[in-house]
Amino acid sequence: MENTIAFINEKTENFEPEIGIILGSGLGEFADEYCDYAICYTEIPNFIKSTVKGHKGRLVFAEIEGKKVVMMQGRNHFYEGHSMSEITYPVKVMKKLGVKTLILTNAAGAVNESFRPSDLMIITDHINFMGTNPLIGANDDSLGERFPDMSEVYKKDLIKIAEKCAEKLCIDIQKGVYFASSGPSYETPAETRMARILGADAVGMSTVPEAIVANYCGMKVLGISCISNAASGVSDVKLSHSEVIETTDKAKSRFKALVLEILKML
Ligand code: HPA
Repeated sequence: MENTIAFINEKTENFEPEIGIILGSGLGEFADEYCDYAICYTEIPNFIKSTVKGHKGRLVFAEIEGKKVVMMQGRNHFYEGHSMSEITYPVKVMKKLGVKTLILTNAAGAVNESFRPSDLMIITDHINFMGTNPLIGANDDSLGERFPDMSEVYKKDLIKIAEKCAEKLCIDIQKGVYFASSGPSYETPAETRMARILGADAVGMSTVPEAIVANYCGMKVLGISCISNAASGVSDVKLSHSEVIETTDKAKSRFKALVLEILKML
């Protein structure tokens, strides 16, 4: 960890970010526009490189709306074969760099039948169905407790701010529970029905490991899903990653406006 922090501090001239943003599938472009310093994951000690199409793989530092921000342009996923501790390492790095608030974004399938592709959804809670937990293993007491509380992972005050920002921008916003499976296969219709019965509104393959670790480290978390498709069984359309990217592309300008407004209000 120390060599990672020293490397980043040298490259960024000791830029001290207070807000972190992890940009999900199709949403990474946001970091192209705001970039004071950028470091490829391949250069950073202990980072793993992103292998998914539509994910760039850079840590980008910028001052946006008067706030010092570090962005992950592309994240690593459990389904790529990385361990939970590898995919959540950047969250711990952000914590050590001084990040207090983490905005997690992703593309997700709609389980809730009233959601439409390209809707934005504020995550109110999650269901970890990945079959494992990023905190398994020896606990690092300098980061957090062995048995961390998870009763308010997605902070209510941040949800309120995000809702207010959406209202101000006249963006129709959804709210709901995010259900994480390991992937990489999409759900079967029966699994989508199960997720709905369990209380989920959207399904995806990311975000939950980072949210658990961020909450454990004492960071405030806000989650925003871009609904890229109806989950399997909700519509007759077969799912494809290119459809996911295409739809997030349509939501991009609303997503950007919303994130900028939220940064202003934080
Ligand atoms: N299921 C799981 N993950 C996803 C989906 C989906 O329908 N869409 C985007 N990521």
